[in-house]
Amino acid sequence: MNIDALRDLSYGMFIVSSSFNNEDAGCVVNTVTQITSVNPTIAISINKDNYTNKIIKESKRLAISILSTDTDIKTISQFGYKSSKDINKFIDINYEIINDLKIVNDNICSYIIGDVVNIINVDTHDIFIIRVVDMKKVSDKIPMTYKYYQDNLKGKSPKNAPTYVNEYNKEGHSRYKCIICGYIYDDEVEEVKFSDLPDNWKCPVCGVGKDKFIKV
Ligand SMILES: Cc1cc2nc3c(=O)[nH]c(=O)nc-3n(C[C@H](O)[C@H](O)[C@H](O)COP(=O)(O)O)c2cc1C
Repeated sequence: MNIDALRDLSYGMFIVSSSFNNEDAGCVVNTVTQITSVNPTIAISINKDNYTNKIIKESKRLAISILSTDTDIKTISQFGYKSSKDINKFIDINYEIINDLKIVNDNICSYIIGDVVNIINVDTHDIFIIRVVDMKKVSDKIPMTYKYYQDNLKGKSPKNAPTYVNEYNKEGHSRYKCIICGYIYDDEVEEVKFSDLPDNWKCPVCGVGKDKFIKV
């Protein structure tokens, strides 16, 4: 089995958010898929350890913000690498409140609101089946694909994402991995070698310093 085959699957980039009893949660996902068109339903895979999973199960509803190529890497880092259990992710983010749901609307293309109609338990993840109850086209911006995120923002997926790849299993040399977010700095493709980067250089994805990188 060559795991690279899975890398040929295409995805978009989204923030899923939910609120319950004055608690807000949200996380980046790349696994939003439309399942039916009449009475549209959507499926999303969310790790059982994500705080957003817990809040969605309690509220039984959620919002999906469809990110555009203009989305700031800081927004993706905040929603994709930190937990709503520890921080308020909506600080410094533009959002809209609809029916008590906080919906991220910073540089998005559209948003969709839906009710949970089924949850399918699959090992580490739950697949939430969502019946769409409202949706709005917010802009004509270009939707961000997962490939765009990888190629242009040099982003990766953390452990909880279904598309997580353990870079230790890949061949090669002169690669340095951020132990916080998994970002790989590859001397072969960058203009400056990792060892020559200034001491105040920060991980472009999660913002930690060079000391949080290990040689792979
Ligand atoms: C590009 C990207 C894609 C991701 N896709 C998913 C996904 O499809 N499902 C998932 O459960 N987590 C995914 N994640 C990971 C969650 O966003 C991450 O674990 C987040 O910190 C969970 O936050 P929470 O604890 O506030 O829910 C993804 C992260 C990134 C950066």
